[in-house]
Amino acid sequence: MTSTDTTAAAAGEYTFDSASTEGATQVRLLADILDGHSIAVLEQLDLAPDSTCLDLGAGAGSIAAWLADQGAPQGHVTAVDQTTVRIPAHERITAVDADITTHKFGTERFDLIHARLLFMHLTEREQVLARAVTALKPGGFLVVSDWDCTHLDEMIVAASDEVADAFTAFQHALISFGTSNGMDPAWARRIPAAMADAGLRGITTSVFNKLWAGGEAGMLLHASNSRQLEAGLLGHGVTREQLDTLRTAMTNPQVWAYHWPMYTAVGVRPTH
Ligand SMILES: C[S@@+](CC[C@H](N)C(=O)[O-])C[C@H]1O[C@@H](n2cnc3c(N)ncnc32)[C@H](O)[C@@H]1O
Repeated sequence: MTSTDTTAAAAGEYTFDSASTEGATQVRLLADILDGHSIAVLEQLDLAPDSTCLDLGAGAGSIAAWLADQGAPQGHVTAVDQTTVRIPAHERITAVDADITTHKFGTERFDLIHARLLFMHLTEREQVLARAVTALKPGGFLVVSDWDCTHLDEMIVAASDEVADAFTAFQHALISFGTSNGMDPAWARRIPAAMADAGLRGITTSVFNKLWAGGEAGMLLHASNSRQLEAGLLGHGVTREQLDTLRTAMTNPQVWAYHWPMYTAVGVRPTH
């Protein structure tokens, strides 16, 4: 895929492009929206300071950087992404440029593997998850977070009918376009079962959502996504006028909306 902002992905390819200008905005906004939730989950794991961690689909690298900061002085984080330019330089982070569907996990074993908003985009998600589990140390944690995109019409709570209609049309176009590229909008609900099938135990889950006002990160993400994917979205039932209406609304503090619920599951590799 090229680094232009409006190029449509081919079937089976990642829908977005973190190397593009809007892709940079997207992964930064994802960090702003979700890091508080992810860090709260990770803090509960009480990892040792010398832990080895693997962040799959690391995006802006904010979680990799947080883990690396926790792991001083001996811990280490490997951050894998097909676009590593957004991952910050850090003495305890190794950035690996790789397609996770073909990536060889090698012989290193990790105390923690984290993957946020990656598996929902992979057509081989169960297989990659099972391979990731083999890269965990006994007692190691797998933490997987993805949006549940199955309820799109209930996300907006304050707006005119025109804005609500544009928002709904945009959401449906986004999910339809993403699904045509292999994304699964309902995968988040299956994470615990996939973890159990892959041999993990002690599985726990949490759900995060928040109401955002126009101008805040959760709303700016929708506007950014609408720009990054415009060419693809227009073929999936939303009009250019509706995208314009959406973008204006997402900066209006009188308009409020939820994002998709974020489902996070934690599983532990048994010690024997
Ligand atoms: C939606 S972003 C999420 C980024 C980050 N994990 C977060 O939650 O903020 C998905 C990331 O996964 C990466 N990605 C998607 N498909 C991939 C693949 N097959 N192999 C490696 N990285 C991939 C993208 O480049 C992108 O940085």
